[in-house]
Amino acid sequence: MPKKMSASNASISHPLLYSKKSPLKGITLNQTIQLLQNQSSFSVSLKKGFTLLDAALTQNQKINYKCKKGKCGKCTVQILTGANLLSESTKSETEKLGSLLDNGYRLACQACFVN
Ligand code: FES
Repeated sequence: MPKKMSASNASISHPLLYSKKSPLKGITLNQTIQLLQNQSSFSVSLKKGFTLLDAALTQNQKINYKCKKGKCGKCTVQILTGANLLSESTKSETEKLGSLLDNGYRLACQACFVN
């Protein structure tokens, strides 16, 4: 009788996942974002439809913030992994962060989970 595989012991190994040309390259399989803010690191799990900040707060992560409107910049974070889970940068982020966006910085109150 074949052994049943549960989600917890399933392993994913397909050459497409690791190929440099793979359309799946860069996808974070565990759907968690690793980020830095003021030299502190945080892990935030995907929470569809939430901003990165609200998801972090519901997961008891102590990310600094103030306005939640993209104005103050207090919620600036550097995304280390999982950036593909977030929406494109907003106008507020472009105005506030400028070239820092190219180095993985985002406003946690503006970046939303998209998947
Ligand atoms: S909390 Fe003010 S810009 Fe995000």
